[in-house]
Amino acid sequence: MSTPEKLTILSGIQPSGNLHLGNYFGAVKQYLEFLEGGHRCFYFLANYHALTSLRDRARLLELTRSTAADYLALGLDPERCAIYRQSDVPEVCELQWILTTVTPMGLLERCHAYKDKIQQGLPADHGLFSYPVLQAADILIVRANRVPVGQDQKQHVEVTRDIAQYFNNNYGEVLTIPEPYIPEAVAVVPGRDGRKMSKSYGNTIELFASDDEVRSQIFSITTDSAPVAAPKDPDQSNLFAILKLFCAPVEAASWADRFRRGGLGYREVKQAILDAFMRRFGAARSRRRELESQPEMVESVLLRGAEQARVVIRPLVREVRAAVGIPNP
Ligand code: TRP
Repeated sequence: MSTPEKLTILSGIQPSGNLHLGNYFGAVKQYLEFLEGGHRCFYFLANYHALTSLRDRARLLELTRSTAADYLALGLDPERCAIYRQSDVPEVCELQWILTTVTPMGLLERCHAYKDKIQQGLPADHGLFSYPVLQAADILIVRANRVPVGQDQKQHVEVTRDIAQYFNNNYGEVLTIPEPYIPEAVAVVPGRDGRKMSKSYGNTIELFASDDEVRSQIFSITTDSAPVAAPKDPDQSNLFAILKLFCAPVEAASWADRFRRGGLGYREVKQAILDAFMRRFGAARSRRRELESQPEMVESVLLRGAEQARVVIRPLVREVRAAVGIPNP
């Protein structure tokens, strides 16, 4: 992130589960780096998107509130970036509608989330089908040029670029074409069972679970039954892949060496992951506990964040309306 120019960064997470290591290494860590780099950052809670998978009002409200507190505990500083709920920026739904009118059906039919459901013979609703258009609106509405996401979201950013180009081809250069930002090393964070870490697979290690739960999640990372003495291939090991996320390159190399030499037991590696986890997240975990008693503070951060975001959003939406021939009120 050595680019001296000031970029506009936008990313979001659906508040549909508890934040886990995959969210941290795949997204929030990059959010923090862009913030440190002095860029203009917008980080939001995609609660309209969460409606496509969560139909439980109390749980959605609770997860939206708790994910906001998670963001703050992890160090997203509301003095230096806009943190907001998607639903507090209603313009995003208006822009989504306008974008749907330049989005070919085929573009959305190729998108994974929808395709996977159809292939499994599951009913898909229109919200899931047009999910990527709402995501495009999220991104384009602040004129983002970089979107830090995990590998699984690459397609959605590409769809956003396509939609912006269709729009601009019709109406002139109104929308900014964004780029995904996906660092190689964190493109896919493996879960406890070796598949991609995802709340839908139930294989996560949660950032803010109780100490006991964190311990049991880490100690339940699956391993083979190789004896302690056996040499092990670090590149085949899920444990190594998770440990490596916490390590500087030299440290990772020395663990890799110990794997290959033999004499390293999996319990020791799990303990090392637990120690590294607590070193990395200990301070955030205590801040998170403090925030539990300050719901009004979290709420006011969100409202202020939405206001800040709308300062750039309102003129963009006016420009879009003018471009397509919808009168501005
Ligand atoms: N689809 C993203 C996810 O599931 C969440 C999201 C919604 C998002 N809108 C976005 C991510 C805009 C980046 C930019 O993780």
